Amino acid sequence: MTILVTGGAGFIGANFVLDWLAAEGDTVVNLDKLTYAGNIENLASLRGDPRHVFVQGDISDQSLVSGLLNEYCPRAVLNFAAETHVDRSIHDPSEFILTNVVGTFNLLEAVRSYWSELHTTKKQSFRFLHVSSDEVYGSLQATDSPFRETDPYEPNSPYSASKAASDHLVRAWHYTYGVPVLTTNCSNNYGPFHFPEKLIPLCILNALEGKPLPVYGDGQQIRDWVYVRDHCSAICRVLEAGKVGETYNIGGWNEKTNLEVVETICRILDEAKPRPDGKSYAQQISFIADRPGHDRRYAIDAGKLERCLGWKPEETFETGVRKTVQWYLDNPIWVSHVTSGEYRQWLNTNYDNRCSVK
Ligand code: NAD
Ligand code: DAU
Repeated sequence: MTILVTGGAGFIGANFVLDWLAAEGDTVVNLDKLTYAGNIENLASLRGDPRHVFVQGDISDQSLVSGLLNEYCPRAVLNFAAETHVDRSIHDPSEFILTNVVGTFNLLEAVRSYWSELHTTKKQSFRFLHVSSDEVYGSLQATDSPFRETDPYEPNSPYSASKAASDHLVRAWHYTYGVPVLTTNCSNNYGPFHFPEKLIPLCILNALEGKPLPVYGDGQQIRDWVYVRDHCSAICRVLEAGKVGETYNIGGWNEKTNLEVVETICRILDEAKPRPDGKSYAQQISFIADRPGHDRRYAIDAGKLERCLGWKPEETFETGVRKTVQWYLDNPIWVSHVTSGEYRQWLNTNYDNRCSVK
């Protein structure tokens, strides 16, 4: 038995593949374009493992995907591949439309054609699992209830609009063609292998390098954090027992303001690797111009997943973020390889000319 994973060299995809194979799961065919965010080093521990087949390629390439489906006959396709960084989608949305919308369309078409030719038992058990985001639901006010699966979509950024579009395509391919799909909408992840363009790894690494910790606006925006391996275990559970055609929200029940997140990182680093001058890393916090259209609050009601499939996250924010900080301290070679290339150019694009506001 085999599964096809797309985007499995990225942050969540790589954690998923590593955990899946560690749990003696089926062979993984891993299709990844290796964009700036894809890093084959994330999968270095699988070198020589015949259960991992890596293919560099684009989910938009229907003939490549069809060839892989026909060659490996997977029992499931899990779609992690996407452009994922909101700030990049604001600077240039085009890749987000190409991969998240057109890419998902092409992938669905290849899957539809493969699935429709399967024999009855395989056809019934096949699943297409689409990994999506809580950002499709838009922004909450402080007193609103957390997002539920039945909430309307109100995406506000080019990124979330492209993910919302992909979710709608997945839904339509089920209702119109019968493709057996599952969709998961998860809150903010953090953990090992997180590319340091995102808030948590960026702040850990900037702190250690003595650089400013850039907090957008007033830092009171709220995100609901889930440890990446909890997200991966939820995906496994949905794949195993989710009801075809349904969507499942995944979250960690950990709402924090961005400022709280950055202060927590500083506190942990103050203990784990004190600054040479004995001062707190919190002195490096710098409030800078806000992200355009910045959503104020996300919060996930993960009750359906707990009630229907018995899934709950294992990590609290405190335990997960400690593990994460320690992972970055323990992996300086990974860090230096990731920060040596394209990422450096992105830092200039996003942070130069973004004046300090406090
Ligand atoms: P990431 O940016 O770290 O990795 C994305 C991966 O997809 C990379 O390996 C990249 O090379 C690959 N990729 C990009 N375009 C591709 C294409 N056209 N064809 C094949 N591969 C391509 O992203 P991530 O944070 O690991 O997110 C994975 C998925 O989870 C995404 O769909 C994202 O929307 C979703 N998600 C992420 C979060 C989060 O907090 N990171 C939360 C909820 C949902
Ligand atoms: O909610 C799920 C989403 O979480 C995923 O779908 C996205 O793929 C993922 O990137 C993430 O989106 P965010 O925009 O929430 O993540 P990011 O790490 O970019 O930002 C987290 C918060 O921190 C957000 O409110 C913006 C703020 N921020 C971010 C950066 C990079 C800062 O204040 N300073 C920064 O330098």
